[in-house]
Amino acid sequence: MQIGKINIQEYPLLLAPMEDITDRSFRLLCKSFGAELLYTEFVASEALIRNIDKSLKKLQIDEAERPTGIQIYGHRIDAMVEAAKIAEEAKPDLIDINYGCPVKKIANRGAGAGILRDIPKMIEMTKAIVNAVKLPVTVKTRLGWDSDNLIIDKIAEQLQDAGIKALTIHGRTRTQLYKGTSDWTLIKKVKQNPNIHIPIIGNGDIFDGISAKNAFDRFDVDGIMIGRAAIGKPWIFREIKHYLKTGEILPELSISEKVEIAKLHFKKSIALKEGKKGIFEMRRHFALYFKGLKNFKELRLKLLTSTDENQISDLLDEIKQKYGELNNT
Ligand SMILES: Cc1cc2nc3c(=O)[nH]c(=O)nc-3n(C[C@H](O)[C@H](O)[C@H](O)COP(=O)(O)O)c2cc1C
Repeated sequence: MQIGKINIQEYPLLLAPMEDITDRSFRLLCKSFGAELLYTEFVASEALIRNIDKSLKKLQIDEAERPTGIQIYGHRIDAMVEAAKIAEEAKPDLIDINYGCPVKKIANRGAGAGILRDIPKMIEMTKAIVNAVKLPVTVKTRLGWDSDNLIIDKIAEQLQDAGIKALTIHGRTRTQLYKGTSDWTLIKKVKQNPNIHIPIIGNGDIFDGISAKNAFDRFDVDGIMIGRAAIGKPWIFREIKHYLKTGEILPELSISEKVEIAKLHFKKSIALKEGKKGIFEMRRHFALYFKGLKNFKELRLKLLTSTDENQISDLLDEIKQKYGELNNT
């Protein structure tokens, strides 16, 4: 798969952009387990053009994680163009435009998936951004606004003509939010359109090697983007790659191994975030690293409420001691 200068040979597995999840610490971890292309969480164009520190920090990329795309969103074309230029200065490998966020306060303003109701504006915005930056521009979107407006196969060519270098499609509509299951048939239709030559990346409900293989085999996509299944399980990229290469399912990691990964993640999060932020932002991850452990309620509560780095490290050791070689499936 080729996106501008980015060339991914075998099994393009991408980490999906996820707000409050895909920060540098998590991206580095996913990279170490084989994610081939990473994305920042979405960054608000309006915040970037106003120099909001919190948003500017989201643009920081580590050399070790490349290739990485910065994703931006917004409803005003001028602001999006300006934000794309600001993002370009942070030297990512590509700029991704979010046309898929279903959140009401974003979509109802015409940003994210909201733009699926105004295709002329979507194309105008895309062209303006492509023309404003030198980096490859990509788009991530959904099938359409709702089931009566499944328009992705009609707009994919227009987006390609606007100059984007890859298109990621989440197989749901905006109205579906994250409910139901992802429908990959329209993704395949886009991919099989003889006029489409940019890479088509499929997204939605890939959670193991089998679902990933199915997506490549049945739906013909150039790459697969993985979101929720990577939270609390950044090693999923290794598992999927192993399955794609060998047809074998790797054994589930033991709790000891998971604790070691969670510790590494925690350390990076503390090192890369200011104050207690590195602690707070790990809570969602911790909850999923150890999901399903039996008689875990008390330890879980402590782990998710502690604000003390040393205490959290001790709690992680305690989990290791208590559950050791078990696994939580
Ligand atoms: C917590 C969370 C945050 C998300 N944030 C973003 C985001 O910032 N940008 C984006 O394009 N999609 C975002 N998404 C959507 C994912 O990128 C992905 O499209 C969706 O979760 C479907 O893929 P999955 O089934 O592999 O999770 C988010 C999803 C979740 C669960």
